[in-house]
Amino acid sequence: NQSTMIREQCQELILTPEKITELEKRFLYEINRGLSKETHSKADIKCFVTYVQDLPNGKERGKFLALDLGGTNFRVLLIHLKGENDFEMQSKIYAIPQHIMLGTGVQLFDHIAECLANFMKEHAVFEERLPLGFTFSFPLVQLGLTKGLLVRWTKGFNCSGVVGEDVVQLLKDSIARRGDIEIAVMAILNDSTGTLMSCAHRNHDCKIGIIIGTGSNACYVERVENAELFDGDTSKPYVLINTEWGAFGDNGALDFVRTEYDRDVDKYSINPGKQLQEKMISGMYMGELVRLVVVKFTKMGLLFGGQGSDLLFTRGQFFTKYVSEIEADDPGTYNNCRMILEELGLVDATDEDCANVRFICECVSSRAAHLVSTGIAVLINKMDEPSVTVGVDGSVYRFHPRFHNLMYAKLRQLVKPHIQFDLMLSEDGSGRGAALVAAVASREN
Ligand code: BG6
Ligand code: GLC
Repeated sequence: NQSTMIREQCQELILTPEKITELEKRFLYEINRGLSKETHSKADIKCFVTYVQDLPNGKERGKFLALDLGGTNFRVLLIHLKGENDFEMQSKIYAIPQHIMLGTGVQLFDHIAECLANFMKEHAVFEERLPLGFTFSFPLVQLGLTKGLLVRWTKGFNCSGVVGEDVVQLLKDSIARRGDIEIAVMAILNDSTGTLMSCAHRNHDCKIGIIIGTGSNACYVERVENAELFDGDTSKPYVLINTEWGAFGDNGALDFVRTEYDRDVDKYSINPGKQLQEKMISGMYMGELVRLVVVKFTKMGLLFGGQGSDLLFTRGQFFTKYVSEIEADDPGTYNNCRMILEELGLVDATDEDCANVRFICECVSSRAAHLVSTGIAVLINKMDEPSVTVGVDGSVYRFHPRFHNLMYAKLRQLVKPHIQFDLMLSEDGSGRGAALVAAVASREN
């Protein structure tokens, strides 16, 4: 019957232990290639050095501004670090319209500078020259803590004239053009680095920061001698590495697990051929993957009596939040599922249809969780410390009802038995991490 056929067809979405073993091998290989001077240019996991070398020690104090660009929301923040676990944070979300996300770099940074100026006015710090941390969640070649060249845009951004440029300079130029505010940019960092710093501030075992949101990425603490491209302070033992693992697979390493749905998502994205692992994991793509599977089975006559709807057949109309909502239904009940199908114009779904749609969601989200866990396990096993806490942020991890448990169970199978690990939800986002990096930097100056 239909359900059996759907289950058979979905086998290719399941990462068997054998596939995961192969993935672990390839993943570690790419990480090591990224770290090494000789092979870095060929690696698809680039392992960019960050120039962040110290985790917070609890002594960071002061008032900081932060910008947080690249996730679901663009935020400006004012953070007052007062003592260990004592801080105040105010923030405001500003919209970035689509035409700016796809416009020119000058438009983007002028817009950011304008939001910053408005925020400073509203929060009565317009006259102050505060230190600022800039969370910029895209791949950067960093030439220092305050200098980073954009490698490529990812996710939904594609502003002209920014690739290859120093993003901090572009921000400073926009601020200078306005002439009404003064700031001191102390650091530019990735959201995964911000998450790691923010979690490390609460939990000193935190050595890995993971994002499973609009995009997906990992940052971890590496020994300086392994980071061959690092030309900063080599007297310090560690440096944080922004892996940019979303690009894993761009050299073909994931072809043996990618499906027609993955190829379709990639083909119609704004960056075909790029960020292939990210497209199998993150929130920007998960709903669309599910939609493509549902469409295929509908056309095969295995769902909804073979009758789809215009919305179902429209790209981008199956939102990633639907996956979370459908999987949040109690087993055997389909309230959310039915509501969502009705929203899509599929009004005559049977219980069996609902069960099958849920099964498809589970296949896609489990695969994502297992891919993320494979990457994390490789990092934990490579670091080989007795105990590691992994800080995690992002909308998929936060809102999907089973993601944490799926990851935890898979990690328990993959992490060496003598290593203790834990997954910790980042509570304050990358903005506070940006303030912490800025604070650590100003502490040293
Ligand atoms: C947030 C950070 O907490 O997590 C963002 O502050 C980051 O900057 C984000 O990008 C990732 O999640 P999402 O789901 O918003 O992409
Ligand atoms: C994309 C970006 C990366 C970021 C991740 C999560 O992969 O390239 O820098 O950390 O999304 O936001």
